[in-house]
Amino acid sequence: MSVEQAGFDALAFRRTLGLFTTGVTIITACGQDGERVGVTANSFSSVSLDPPLVLWSLAKSARSLDAFTNAEYFTIHILSAGQEDLSNRFASRGEDKFSGIDVTDGFGGSPLISGCCARMQCRTVHQYEGGDHIIFVGEVVDLVSSDAAPLVFQAGKYALASRKADAPPFVTSTATEFKDDFLGYLLWRAYFQFAAELRKEGAISDYSDDEFLLLVTLAHNNWRSPGGIAKAMFHGDAEEDTQEALAGLEAKGLLERMTGADGVELVGLNRNGMDSALAALAAAKSTEAVFLDKLGLWDGAALKNLLRGFIVETDPGLPHPWERQDNEAEPLRTSV
Ligand SMILES: Cc1cc2nc3c(=O)[nH]c(=O)nc-3n(C[C@H](O)[C@H](O)[C@H](O)COP(=O)(O)O)c2cc1C
Repeated sequence: MSVEQAGFDALAFRRTLGLFTTGVTIITACGQDGERVGVTANSFSSVSLDPPLVLWSLAKSARSLDAFTNAEYFTIHILSAGQEDLSNRFASRGEDKFSGIDVTDGFGGSPLISGCCARMQCRTVHQYEGGDHIIFVGEVVDLVSSDAAPLVFQAGKYALASRKADAPPFVTSTATEFKDDFLGYLLWRAYFQFAAELRKEGAISDYSDDEFLLLVTLAHNNWRSPGGIAKAMFHGDAEEDTQEALAGLEAKGLLERMTGADGVELVGLNRNGMDSALAALAAAKSTEAVFLDKLGLWDGAALKNLLRGFIVETDPGLPHPWERQDNEAEPLRTSV
């Protein structure tokens, strides 16, 4: 029976299958002629615990079909969250998918890729006809795994797995209620908790919020104009806040002023300032590590991903604080 005979079209079938959220694997083998082959596949599934069996299916149209059907072993690599590029590479019909990738030889010469969540070397024990695919069943003969966050595939797009929060259910807001499912509250509360922890760090506790932001901004791109800083850091015309933060760092002996190439006033961290900024950045990183440790690797990666998406989707066109603005002349000297 064809898809149409079943009463739906191929697109609807694909879309429906895509609703089943999966991980992403790269499956490799060594062909009889010694050629290394590898394909991205999300048809991977567990079959049996004892004996340890898994399966996956490969399109009969795949270039690597002969190599897989003749290989005694194949290796399944469960991809980690950062391996999207690798997934795309092995989903293409390129001839030399392994170029530039560090691989070692596994059973039967099947290429082993590093940096994955997990890797299972399998001996092919069955091959079945499966419509336009061949189904491979493998007995797992060796495995390695890590606690890296896995890459996820959902509705045709890459995604990250995040665990449902272990917290009481949200109370739905009415138009006039301000309860804990309100996005603004969640963002503010999360920031408040992070900032409070940050303040406990000795290398940071002496600075106001604005001074800290200015310090790390200048550490990334030193010698800026006060106007450029106001625009980039405070997202607008915040001359007063900028001057206050500049004066604060100056009073602490961390900041100097000079005139740039075209007469524009520039401010920058001196040696002391740069050392203090590096200490503050290290302290901020260690605070981040405390939070990520509490969240766990998976949720940490998923939260950063969601916040990045939130910022990109809702960005009214704000400049990035680290970037030099158009009106900021390059300084005459860049060293401190
Ligand atoms: C996320 C994802 C999952 C995929 N899953 C499969 C799969 O399970 N089976 C398959 O035959 N192709 C799958 N593909 C497509 C193959 O990776 C693609 O056709 C690849 O080019 C085949 O390589 P080859 O022609 O060099 O053998 C998938 C692609 C992506 C992006």
